[in-house]
Amino acid sequence: MIRQLFRRKGITDPSERGLRRVLSLWDLTAIGVAAVIGAGIFSTVGEATLKAGPSVVLVFVIGAFVAGLSALSYAEMASVVPQAGSAYTYTYVIFGELLAWLMGWFLILEYAVGNIAVAISWSGYFVALLRSMGIDMPLYLVQDPLSLWRAAQDYLQSHNPASYPAYQAWQAAPTLFGIPLILNLPALLIVVFITALAYVGIRESRLANNIFVALKVLTILFILVVGAFFVDPDRWTPFMPNGFSGMMRAVGAVFFAYIGFDALSTTAEEARYPRRDLPLAMLLSLTICTLLYVGIALVLTGTVSYQELGVADPLAYLFTKLPISVGFRRALEGMVAVSAVIAMASVLLVFQIGQPRIWFAMSRDGLLPPALGKVHPRFGTPHVATLLTGAVVAIPLFFSSLSTVVDMTSMGTLMAFAMVSAGVAYLHYAPPPNYNPRFRVPYIPSRWLFPIMVLAGLLWAWSLNPLAIQHLVDFSQGGTLWHYRILLLFVLIATYLAIRYNLSLLPLLGTLSPLYLIIELGQENWIRLLLWLSAGLVFYFVYGYRHSHLRAG
Ligand code: ALA
Repeated sequence: MIRQLFRRKGITDPSERGLRRVLSLWDLTAIGVAAVIGAGIFSTVGEATLKAGPSVVLVFVIGAFVAGLSALSYAEMASVVPQAGSAYTYTYVIFGELLAWLMGWFLILEYAVGNIAVAISWSGYFVALLRSMGIDMPLYLVQDPLSLWRAAQDYLQSHNPASYPAYQAWQAAPTLFGIPLILNLPALLIVVFITALAYVGIRESRLANNIFVALKVLTILFILVVGAFFVDPDRWTPFMPNGFSGMMRAVGAVFFAYIGFDALSTTAEEARYPRRDLPLAMLLSLTICTLLYVGIALVLTGTVSYQELGVADPLAYLFTKLPISVGFRRALEGMVAVSAVIAMASVLLVFQIGQPRIWFAMSRDGLLPPALGKVHPRFGTPHVATLLTGAVVAIPLFFSSLSTVVDMTSMGTLMAFAMVSAGVAYLHYAPPPNYNPRFRVPYIPSRWLFPIMVLAGLLWAWSLNPLAIQHLVDFSQGGTLWHYRILLLFVLIATYLAIRYNLSLLPLLGTLSPLYLIIELGQENWIRLLLWLSAGLVFYFVYGYRHSHLRAG
């Protein structure tokens, strides 16, 4: 049975009943940029800047480094296995069926659960945009019932005036058969609209996507140019007002901004020249986003004091601080708001295209029911899987809160990043006979270099804070350092593997760095991840294991 669980798929071309090959290098790059630039840069960058101060610029560079290491491994795998399933298919080829299934299961967190988060954020911006035009939507039509109920309870128990509008809305909500009609209507409508777009075809989605991307990149460039005139370099000192640890607290929020470049690998079967274009498009889109992000971080911290930037709409806030005329400021604020709404809609679209293609690939391997592998006779899209994705994103909108879904999205994505990098490290160590990637991550031997890096890192940490390092190895000091102890354990295991097998350095670092971020995300999220993993195992043994084509073959 163990052998069955770890049976690997061969490296083959997709089957005959493939999807339409219409995407060029630029379409693919646009898909990457579309998926990356969204809630992260328009919103979470504010909170990150408050924590890190001007050193948020460095955090964006670190984020690019972590995402870049994974992008290299994704690029190598995409050039070997240009199939729709992304990390799921790569894992099937490298580590076998069970881990592949679990990878498919984790990708639901990145794509479908990620889209729940983006839809909720989108709704927030959209409602604000309507408000700026003088249109106020009632609170019971823009929030999920659970959040509204909690806020109403808060008012009843503590008479918190900030919760009064929620209490009023709870009272005023119309009822249907005695059930209060409370829902996040804009979020629901945008999911329905985007699902319809993904259903009718990749070509139509491509056109809409390219327009969205052009608009949002132009807006960001415009903010950069206007902002650059008002930068005062004095604001960049002190560079790290909250020290190194303060800076690192911003890593999680910034990482969210980088999620998404991997989504373009799900369209591998719709790319014209997948082996050449997929690796290029991933690296290109990540480079473009990194340059824009670092530029925005420099302009933000150079024009406004970082202490003022902990707001939900930092890019619009920037303009309220510039010495410009009221009319010009209003126009700029409006442009940023419209652009944020468009930026998030395009993130939604790419993820809504990505998720069904992963299920499509899993269904083709027999691990999901055959209906999910059906291709629409006219539109040429995996239409059943697309509709299911719409339902999986829309239904939880009725009871999900934003923070939980954001964290779970990061957990799922980081698992995928770590797994793909680990896979490439393994392939470099033991390549199969026909292994001939068109793009290859440069091989740097790690036997000496990695232990030296670990030693240098420990010495550096010791020079910064000798006491913390002592506490780390002194187990009588109790619980607060456990997550760093787990990190140390991972580093020691990696050092052993590096010395023993002389692993490829870049994929090795690409495996460790997402694991570090997972550790930073905290115990509550680890428990959620374990629960998700257990549910995945149950589904696998109930359906996937029994219907696997590879096993039947
Ligand atoms: N990176 C995407 C965003 O910022 C998920 O919205």
